Amino acid sequence: MKDVNVGAASSFTDPGRKVFDCGGTEVGVFLLDGEFYAWENRCPHLDGPACQGKIVPLFTEAVNEDLTSRGREFSKTQTNVVCPWHGFEFDIRTGVHPTDARVRLKGVKLRVEDGDVWLSVRA
Ligand code: FES
Repeated sequence: MKDVNVGAASSFTDPGRKVFDCGGTEVGVFLLDGEFYAWENRCPHLDGPACQGKIVPLFTEAVNEDLTSRGREFSKTQTNVVCPWHGFEFDIRTGVHPTDARVRLKGVKLRVEDGDVWLSVRA
């Protein structure tokens, strides 16, 4: 493993994301509600650039007890990134697909040290 400095923490917008080429491994670094998350930019579906898609709240349909719809709702607690190739979504905080926990992004170790963001990637 090698450590890669990807810049000042203050250079990230919140919410926001940057994608870095770390010597052959592309990594998406997200800042969300003051916390950083890092995922390999490789979709588990067909290797698309999952970290480069739109950042959106989880979108669900609200259903009454009698199974009638109350319409669509945006989550106030879960934010996803949408793979631009075929639309698979992943929770930015966990890297997990909303309906199948077996489908997930691969995490990259991240730390903030002296105001800079560092990634640990395969050498
Ligand atoms: S490659 Fe990401 S959804 Fe297909």
